[in-house]
Amino acid sequence: MKHKNYRNIRPNVAYNPHRSKGNPIFEYFYTVIVQMYMELIFATNNGNKIREIRNILGDSFTLLSLDDIKMKEDIPENEPTIEGNALYKARYVYDAVRKNVFADDTGLEIESLGGLPGVNSARFAGENKDSAANIDKVLAMLGPAENRKARFRTVIALIFNGREYLFEGVVSGTIIKDKRGNEGFGYDPVFIPEGRDRTFAEMDLDEKNTISHRARAFEKLRSFLSQHIDPDNKETI
Ligand code: IMP
Repeated sequence: MKHKNYRNIRPNVAYNPHRSKGNPIFEYFYTVIVQMYMELIFATNNGNKIREIRNILGDSFTLLSLDDIKMKEDIPENEPTIEGNALYKARYVYDAVRKNVFADDTGLEIESLGGLPGVNSARFAGENKDSAANIDKVLAMLGPAENRKARFRTVIALIFNGREYLFEGVVSGTIIKDKRGNEGFGYDPVFIPEGRDRTFAEMDLDEKNTISHRARAFEKLRSFLSQHIDPDNKETI
């Protein structure tokens, strides 16, 4: 796990080890403040991703989407790296609402194409984010290449109590020559993860989620948050 403390904007006011227990007014405000900090925004409106992360995080957080916080605008994704895009989206929301937030960004990195399509995975064949056209372009560029090694890489940028953290999830595999399967999305029909003989598009979501790049990054996020939250006391530490 890579921790980066780019900024420390806000002190962690929710944690007070010396707080007086038993004072009901203090306890009330303490609870309100702590619950406020339990809200976690996922900077996306992708329903599938929200369901996936809700499953992983359980109920220790109130997970909010961009819709939930009434943020309507499209957040630009123009940074030159996957990390940059994830951070940009998280900072964009944090600067607007000053609440704990995370954002994700994913790319398919193909070794013999020097890491392409990478950060441009969604728009590889054009602005309309056409998955079939993206796959066709990748297959055309690869041609009969022997080296078909590739990996999906997800980066999650979390801004938690004013500090920034990055979590990476990777799944390695190969790009096959013809599409197989109807499940999933994006490049799934041409990607076979290492140790398997079926493409992601030939797996149901549960199976894909046991090994996927996104699930691995989400799991790192969950593990970080669980170490920083005491579920019994609901304290941030
Ligand atoms: P995003 O950052 O999650 O929106 O992903 C960017 C692009 O990467 C998507 O538009 C897809 O083309 C591709 N992609 C991301 N995750 C997957 C996946 O799990 N399977 C196949 N393609 C994916």
